[in-house]
Amino acid sequence: MPDSTPCDALVLFGATGDLAHKKTFDTIQALIQRGQLKSPVIGVAKSGMTKEQLLDRAKEGITTFGRGVDAAAFAQFAANFQYVDGDYADLNTFTKLRAALGGAKRPLHYLAIPPSVFGLVTTQLKASGCADGSRIVIEKPFGRDLQSALKLNETLHAVYGERDIFRIDHYLGKEATQNILFTRFANAFLEPLWNRSHINQIQITMAEDFGVQGRGRFYEGAGCLRDVIENHLMQVVGFLCMEPPFWPDMDRVRDEQIKLFRAIRTLGANDVVRGQFDGYLKEEGVAPNSQVETFAAVRLHIDNWRWEGVPIYLRAGKCMPMTATEVRVEFHRPPCVVFPNEQTPPRNSWRFLLSPRIEIGMNLQVKADGERMVGQSLELKAVDQQPDEMTPYERLLGDALRGDQTLFARQDVVEEAWRIVDPILGSVVPVHRYAKGMWGPEVVNEILLPDGGWHAPLLSGTG
Ligand code: BG6
Repeated sequence: MPDSTPCDALVLFGATGDLAHKKTFDTIQALIQRGQLKSPVIGVAKSGMTKEQLLDRAKEGITTFGRGVDAAAFAQFAANFQYVDGDYADLNTFTKLRAALGGAKRPLHYLAIPPSVFGLVTTQLKASGCADGSRIVIEKPFGRDLQSALKLNETLHAVYGERDIFRIDHYLGKEATQNILFTRFANAFLEPLWNRSHINQIQITMAEDFGVQGRGRFYEGAGCLRDVIENHLMQVVGFLCMEPPFWPDMDRVRDEQIKLFRAIRTLGANDVVRGQFDGYLKEEGVAPNSQVETFAAVRLHIDNWRWEGVPIYLRAGKCMPMTATEVRVEFHRPPCVVFPNEQTPPRNSWRFLLSPRIEIGMNLQVKADGERMVGQSLELKAVDQQPDEMTPYERLLGDALRGDQTLFARQDVVEEAWRIVDPILGSVVPVHRYAKGMWGPEVVNEILLPDGGWHAPLLSGTG
């Protein structure tokens, strides 16, 4: 049974790091504003900073990257904040943390740190007694490949039960991602169409018009496949393609997800194209001869009754022509040309735009005004809104503090996702250069070209 005892302390490992600076302190302030976080917050890092310096840095991060400092909420945060400065390899750091935790019985340890130290920190938490009664939140990527993910899970499980492990994939906390699942199963007319008899292919594009933004060192250890495809885009595939979950128990969603992932064929060299934008090698922290990909396109196959024969194309990249994430589900063409002027009847498609806005739309063919029987494409838009004010991180950290695991990645799902991508990691296929502002390397259109070509995400007002 899930344990919904709320956490009574939040410990932030990596308190001086990039994620904390840009996102976590802003999230903490928002949770305080909403009254969802009243407990003490303890930052841990090795920086040589004082608590006051770290608070100043947090303020600066909230101002620059977040929603601005709210004096009252920030003051409440500062009053409840402690900082432990020390090396993760030194047990003494954790002894100081244990003292700072005081009487807390259900702390939440949030590991906003590089994956390479997850194991060390977990072991130290146990050795110092800080793990007692606690929950742990870890950031993706959960390992670097299947082998290391198995190892990481083993390390975590030596200290924590699965019920106390919260693996953050912020795509699961996005309103727009959850809406895929909801829309599919809350509309009876959709379900009979949502299969190989009616659907020709699916394309998912996650494009970013910026580069690695000073995260070269992190990116060198990840690359596009590990950074966003194995996790974020696979979660989207999960919601898009799973069987209907038995709703009352949300863990059943994860059961359906694992069933789907087990049916996805392991990827091979013919299913992937990798690219690197010109200029990546000059980024700070990047090796001069790096073969790490900043763009990847893959083709998935799902070997089950519903999806057999329907290719699912995923592509993601940095320095693309726009920033947008879109799912496009394309239906088969009408069976024959009824109207003589219509050469090739276009396909209908269903579209979920996940960012920068949330849109759900369906593309239809209708007769164009005039004497001739010629058609035009129109989109029926069901949803068109700005993303929720509550960010995915706020939603997920709030859930973890309450002990609600619904929107977190389960061990078996994570391992299965790694099994799918494992053989294409590294330099299995060459990395091709592409100019900034292009949709990846040209060669993608020779090696992995969906029927009818790749579709750029459709942004409001762009037709
Ligand atoms: C992160 C990746 O997990 O997701 C980044 O590490 C990426 O490289 C980011 O830019 C994208 O998230 P969002 O929510 O802006 O689509």
